[in-house]
Parts: sequence; C-alpha cells; structure tokens
Amino acid sequence: MYACRRLLFAVFAATCLTSKADSQILTPKPQPAPRVNGPTIYGARPGHPFLYRIPAQGERPMKFSVKNLPNTLQLDPDTGIISGTTPGRGTYNLRFKAKNKHGSSQRTFRLVSGDTLSLTPSMGWNSWYAHYSRITDKMMREAADIMISTGMADVGYQYVNVDDCWMNTDVGNDPQRIGPFRDDHGTIMPTKHFPDMKGLADYIHSKGLKAGLYTSPGPLTCTHCGGAYEHEAQDAKQFADWGFDFLKYDWCSYGHITPRTAPLPELKKPYATMGALLQQQNRDILYNLCQYGMGNVWEWGTEVGGQSWRTSGDLGFELSKIFAVALKNSEHRAFQKPGGWNDPDYIQIGYIGNARGGGLPAPCPFTPTEQYSFMSLWSLMASPLFYSGDMTKLDDFTLNVLCNPEVIDINQDALGEGANVLRLTPTTFIMVKNLEDGGQAIGLCNASEEQTSMTANWSALGFKSKQHVRDVWRQKDLGKMKQFDTIVPKHGVVLLRVSN
Ligand code: GAL
Repeated sequence: MYACRRLLFAVFAATCLTSKADSQILTPKPQPAPRVNGPTIYGARPGHPFLYRIPAQGERPMKFSVKNLPNTLQLDPDTGIISGTTPGRGTYNLRFKAKNKHGSSQRTFRLVSGDTLSLTPSMGWNSWYAHYSRITDKMMREAADIMISTGMADVGYQYVNVDDCWMNTDVGNDPQRIGPFRDDHGTIMPTKHFPDMKGLADYIHSKGLKAGLYTSPGPLTCTHCGGAYEHEAQDAKQFADWGFDFLKYDWCSYGHITPRTAPLPELKKPYATMGALLQQQNRDILYNLCQYGMGNVWEWGTEVGGQSWRTSGDLGFELSKIFAVALKNSEHRAFQKPGGWNDPDYIQIGYIGNARGGGLPAPCPFTPTEQYSFMSLWSLMASPLFYSGDMTKLDDFTLNVLCNPEVIDINQDALGEGANVLRLTPTTFIMVKNLEDGGQAIGLCNASEEQTSMTANWSALGFKSKQHVRDVWRQKDLGKMKQFDTIVPKHGVVLLRVSN
C-alpha cells in the first residue's frame, strides 16, 4: 500500500514537472510531413563557389527536388544540399520541393546572382558567449553536428562561426594556446586546439553549412591573440583559401593605431581595407563589422563592404537591458536594407557562459517569457540571428524558442524592413514590421516590471478594416478582429502576424 502511494506520488510529481516545462513551450512540434523553410530570396556572386542546404523540417528520409535549377548547380536529392558555381548575373526563380512518406512541401527561392550578399539577415551560431577562450576545433565540429541533429539547420541556421581565440596568444594558462602569432611566411597561426583550419571548414561544408571566423584590424584581438594589422591581404587570402564564408572584424587593439575619437575617415579606413580585400577573393565571404557603433557605422557599413555591423557594445554585459538595447538598435532601422543589417549582438538563451568572468556555461538569467521576448525583438528588428550558447546543452524549450519557422519567417522576410517602434508609455511599445506579402508582424512589448493590458489599435497602425490575426508563437489563427487586446506579461512580447 505504502509502495503504491509512493508510486502514485512519483507519477504525480513527474506529471507536475513535465506539465510545468511543457507549459512554457508554446509552439507545436514540427509535423512529420515536410515543411520547406528558409529565406525566399538569396544573394550570391557570379562564378563563386555556391553552397546551400535547403532547410526543411519533417521526417527523414526525404527526397528533394528543385525546379529551374541553373546548370552550374547540382542538388543532392537525399540531403537537399545544392553545390556548384553561382550562375551568371541575373535573377533565377527556383522552386524547392521536399517529399516524404507523409506528404510534400514547396517553397520559392529567388537566387539573385549579383554583387549583393545577405539579402536577408544571416543566421547561425557563434562560439563566444558559450566558450570564450576554451573554444576548440572539436567543439566547432560538434556545433555543426548539433545544428543538423537538433533541426536548427532545418529552419535556416547556417553559419557555424568561431569567434576570438582560434589563433595563438601570448598570455594565459593554457600552453596549447600560447605561441607565435605568425610563422616564418607571415601566416597567422591557429592554436594547437585548431590543428587544421581548412579541414574544419571542409567538415562544416560537408554538412551543407557555412564556416565563419574572427579577427581584428589591430595587432591583437581583444583577448591578446594575433590580429590582422599589416597582414590584411595575406589573412584575407588565407581565410578564403581555408574556405571560410564569414568574417567578424573586431576593432579591439586598433584603438592603439587610431583613437576612437579620430575623424571619420580614420575610423572607416581599416574596415574599408578589409572589405575591399574580401571582395577580391573567389568566395562569398560575409563581412560583419564589430566596432560597437563608432562613427555611426550604420551610415557607412554597406559602403565599406559590410553585410552587418554591430550597433553597440557587448550585449553579454547588458543582458538585463534587452528591451533598451532593442530600442536603441531600432533607432537605426532606416539605415538597414537587404544586403546590410544592424547587428545588436547574439541571442544568449539556454546555457551561456559568464561574459564578465568567461565562466562555464550555466542557465541564462532569463525567464521563459524573456527568452521569447529576445527572439521576438530580434525577429522584428530583422537582426542577424546568431545563437551564442552551449549547443551541447540545448533543451526542448530553448530549441522551441530558437526554431519556430513562423517567427524566423518574420526575421527573414524578403522586404528586409526593421520594425517601426510606436512608444505608448515609457515602458510599453508596439513594433510593426511590414512584410513582403502586404501583411505586418506586430509585437506588443512590455518592458515594465508588471504585467499590463495592451491594445493594438488598428487605426493607430494605419489599418482601415478588420484584420486576420495569427499568434505566431502558438502558430494559431485568432480570427478577424477590429483591434487586438491582450495582457502582456512582465518583460513580455506578444508576437502577431496580421493581414487583410
Ligand atoms: C568583443 C566583441 C565580442 C567578442 C569579443 C572577443 O570586442 O564585441 O563580440 O567578439 O570581443 O574578444
């Protein structure tokens, strides 16, 4: 009898625990039938190597096909990986199809072969806020494996990027990381934890994903590793030869060459130099400017070849202020467009390290509501979406926040608008992002310390008639409405998609 009661209690406790965790998961699980995801427009440079893994959710095995695939490209029908050489200048209207035993799904894909890359914000993973100087080749490969196995790649995450600390340093306790910055030929030297940079990029590419790395225009990176100063051309070529597809260029010690207060041409110079060099390589290499917003970088980021530019300092130091950071970033919305994006830094949810001490990954300081807010705000702003937490500790909740394809569609929308902000009170505001299909994404945002009722008043938003409203996190239609009234929890964002 006692054993039976104990069993009952155990079952009850387990049910409570499960339902608590489940209640935080708002998004229905992906169906077994295919659903093709990802951007509907994609820029690549003619004649360069092309690699794209069609993001598609659904049970494997799955068969992929592509209509109107240019003959310079090949598709692997089992993996959905397209490779080859980008065709000549022009717009190619492709149609992706994925099929499995449960059904099929299609999606258009406009391939624009020309000068402009990143026609939608880039998406991927970055090592910094999880691993700092602990990063190794093994962890990078593992991150690529997990991007595939968790389904992150099936909703569009694509870049696997190492941040600082892949190259030798002259400080610290780890002998594997200490060594000369360059060899006798002036080639930048990775740490012993990165024995084969080309092998690493090849491995990431073998999954249909793309590889990114990091350096500084200064002699040293922010953690005292070797930077690119006076070796810019050699490094740009080396990164391309290794096969990297993304470079983050972080100001760091460049302050010793040019003070932050220097005139604008001096602030632009190192970024323009590297931007021109990257464009000379026979690869599409996305260029992320990281100089914390100096000299109003949003005004000239595109001009120096950047596809994205950090608009402020490190978000890891300001995690208690994601609403304020988003509002500040949104002030520059007019300067972003397809090909050039404001970057308010990485998504730090799930398990993250401690930015101040470089500590080991631990649960992030956010409530579940705040984690949804993080992703909602970044999607409404059309910010690059880089997860920067521990990939080995991703749980169902974190994946559900990172991987809702309807939320990601808002971020990746081909119009490329950052949401307009309508301030209602000092702590509440509405964000409205126009979408390519004529609809809007709307975020009702409550940065206050208490839950509050909020209204999205259609006439204030410029709508003349009732609107269809969809709850994007729950993927649920709410009906046709004259206005939308809701209670928004403390630090919450209610994310809607509305259409006529
Ligand atoms: C900072 C940068 C961070 C990270 C770090 C590496 O300057 O903003 O994102 O890259 O350097 O040392």
